[in-house]
Amino acid sequence: MRIVRTTAELREHVRDVRASGGTVGLVPTMGALHAGHVSLIDAAVGRTSNTVVSLFVNPRQFGDASDLSAYPRTEEDDAARAQAAGADVLFAPDVDEVYPDGYASEVRVSGPLTERLEGAHRGPEHFHGVTTVVTKLLNMVAPDVAFFGAKDAQQVLVVRRLVRDLDLPVEIVALPTVREADGLALSSRNVRLSADDRARAVAIPRAIEAVVAALAGGEDDAAALLRVAAGPLADAGLAPEYVAIVDPATLAPRTTVDAPSLLALAVPVGPVRLIDNALLSPVTSDAPVPALSGAGWSDHRVPPTPEKG
Ligand code: PAF
Repeated sequence: MRIVRTTAELREHVRDVRASGGTVGLVPTMGALHAGHVSLIDAAVGRTSNTVVSLFVNPRQFGDASDLSAYPRTEEDDAARAQAAGADVLFAPDVDEVYPDGYASEVRVSGPLTERLEGAHRGPEHFHGVTTVVTKLLNMVAPDVAFFGAKDAQQVLVVRRLVRDLDLPVEIVALPTVREADGLALSSRNVRLSADDRARAVAIPRAIEAVVAALAGGEDDAAALLRVAAGPLADAGLAPEYVAIVDPATLAPRTTVDAPSLLALAVPVGPVRLIDNALLSPVTSDAPVPALSGAGWSDHRVPPTPEKG
């Protein structure tokens, strides 16, 4: 696997791949790679002849300077992981390569998709930072397919809208959230949880499971389901930033889960803000889920790590 730092070198590589009839997959990451990222790299390796993993902690999508400085940076481990998973190139540019002196452009998806949920709590600027860097990465790499994790469900919707609105010639694939054996969604931020916070964080998947069980038991009133979700979180002493049941295409709040819906949560746990989500399918509905539909949206879990010794 090659480690590439400049756009010029990356473009040369992609030109060579294309000249020999190959296809290119992009897995955009901010590093601290975990099994969720590996599942994206696996998919890219399976779908395309050449896989580029980008590693760039994008300052423009962090509202909070302390969150940016605390973001884990583990390039050596990331390179080893990406290589083991079969990536061909790790594109790890410096900040100046992406945002050179005098940089003054931004790409925005405006409106409810970037203003609701994460946009309402982190500010829509978070997504403007994401869409700016994703546009740049898509232009730099020019992939045939780009792979994103469904844990960031709103990000997937926003990126799909960006690609559609700007006619970007790339297919966006979303892959299921990968979870620890106890259900906690893998996140680069999990490494910052203390042992006590890690134990409390399990309340997040428990809240999701409680909602899924209540729905399966016939409760479809969104307010009642949100009260169900609140139970495990309160028991663990966690105060969510939001727990919402929304239309999975528009993110508009739902009052009744009489059509496929997205349950989305953001929960501070100690110093870390965790997000998670699940698609809720009403027992009676077989309607397709717009925008989020596609093979493998459902969650799966990482098998437990075998005990050593
Ligand atoms: O999901 C992420 O890790 C980031 O938001 C992304 C897509 C790499 C853009 O910086």
